[in-house]
Amino acid sequence: MIANASELFEQLEFTENPLYERIISDLLEKKYSVVDDFFNADEVDLLRSTLLEKYEEDNFKKAAIGNRTNEVIAKSVRGDFILWINEAEAGPAENVYFNKINSLVAYLNRTCFMGILHKEFHYAVYPEGTFYKKHLDTFQNDGRRKLSMVCYLNNEDWKPENGGELAIYTQENGEEKTINLYPFPGRVVIFESQELEHEVKPVKVPRLSITGWLKTR
Ligand code: OGA
Ligand code: MN
Repeated sequence: MIANASELFEQLEFTENPLYERIISDLLEKKYSVVDDFFNADEVDLLRSTLLEKYEEDNFKKAAIGNRTNEVIAKSVRGDFILWINEAEAGPAENVYFNKINSLVAYLNRTCFMGILHKEFHYAVYPEGTFYKKHLDTFQNDGRRKLSMVCYLNNEDWKPENGGELAIYTQENGEEKTINLYPFPGRVVIFESQELEHEVKPVKVPRLSITGWLKTR
């Protein structure tokens, strides 16, 4: 769906988007990209309060491992609670979210022929003391997952002592390397689902996010 005039212009005129170009070159170069302020403070506030409202209504479920035919809850692997987001029933906050995601997806498909046809997103809350052990997102036996995207919805004053880093395991010039990323509000991390193992370090303060996947057919 086309949200506003600038998006319409972009889609019709094929203008180059410097941010999206940077994401594309990061992905080609190192298989991940970090964008601070992908969402501004107002957008994060709206998304965070919507998440908290739904969390307080008790709509979240303990996250499982495996896909729907192979669902196991394993607290020793992951401790987060999730709520899948249905785009067809999006409220104001989710519309803000999907407008940006859809604009990025349209750009990736148009300029890189990425063939992204599906997407799935969920809210996630990691309560105090929880984590997600090192994994590859395709162990959910869904080979269609192409790009993983995580967007953090924590408070403005999120501190490194709160833990909850996303650790990405990668290689640079043949050497193992770990990239530790703090879940700062508005930050989005995008990475190749089939390629990069990653983990969420134990959190000391509840950690809020939207996580999702851009999928091929
Ligand atoms: C996941 C995941 C990372 C994060 O949900 O599969 O790896 O930083 N999340 O929340
Ligand atoms: Mn993951």
